[in-house]
Amino acid sequence: MKAALTALRGCFVTGTDTEVGKTCVSAGLLHWLGRAGCRAAGFKPVAAGRVVVDGRRINEDVVALRDASSVRLSDAEVGPFQFDAACAPHIAAALEARVIDRAALLDAARAQGARAEFLVVEGVGGFCVPLGPDWDSADLACDLGLPVVLVVGLRLGCLNHALLSADAISARGLRLAGWVANSTGPAMQHVNENLATLRHELERRHQAPCLGVVPRLATPDPTVLASHLDDTALRALFELR
Ligand SMILES: Nc1ncnc2c1ncn2[C@@H]1O[C@H](COP(=O)(O)OP(=O)(O)OP(=O)(O)O)[C@@H](O)[C@H]1O
Ligand SMILES: [Mg+2]
Repeated sequence: MKAALTALRGCFVTGTDTEVGKTCVSAGLLHWLGRAGCRAAGFKPVAAGRVVVDGRRINEDVVALRDASSVRLSDAEVGPFQFDAACAPHIAAALEARVIDRAALLDAARAQGARAEFLVVEGVGGFCVPLGPDWDSADLACDLGLPVVLVVGLRLGCLNHALLSADAISARGLRLAGWVANSTGPAMQHVNENLATLRHELERRHQAPCLGVVPRLATPDPTVLASHLDDTALRALFELR
């Protein structure tokens, strides 16, 4: 399955945990690519948690990625598997007597990849979230074969979570292409020392550069977020001149 999607360009965005800023960073990356003149599409393969807005059930991650994309997309194209319950995806699927079909998901990814030059894929929760009885989100990342970007939520415990996630990414044969530090709350204590340790260890163990340090923002919209990303590092990641 991996070989089928090796033509895709872009990245797979995972995180040290749920709620660390994967959607905000993915939207920032989409905005950055659009500003660089690239046609970029967001993709949220599995989205759990929908709310009703104007009589329509929507998933906020799907809408955010759709809106930040530089090609016109429908919600169903960005988020082919959406479930109502905000819980672990295989449980949300079971509550609706559905399954997350791996082959159908890859077909959807392939179709989405054909709509743009670059695909920014937001993973589900952390790196190893079960998607069914015999596969998980790490398998999905392998199927897509994209370089992985790790969003590190800057909070106590993030060093361990970041290094464990990075090891898991490498153990699956994927390339950790870089990481983004993101603050969703008040600045953690000793933030600069923690950032220095992340830089040192992720470079030493995985040759993974820092792609940006994002402070807590009053409005974490894609334009503002993209201004905290490192242009040089992103040009290298996406192989842009
Ligand atoms: N830099 C930031 N400054 C302020 N708020 C932020 C920042 N980054 C993220 N947030 C907020 O933190 C919350 C979680 O962010 P986000 O939805 O991007 O996380 P996530 O990792 O995608 O979560 P999930 O696992 O549910 O998909 C959101 O309310 C978002 O607006
Ligand atoms: Mg999200």
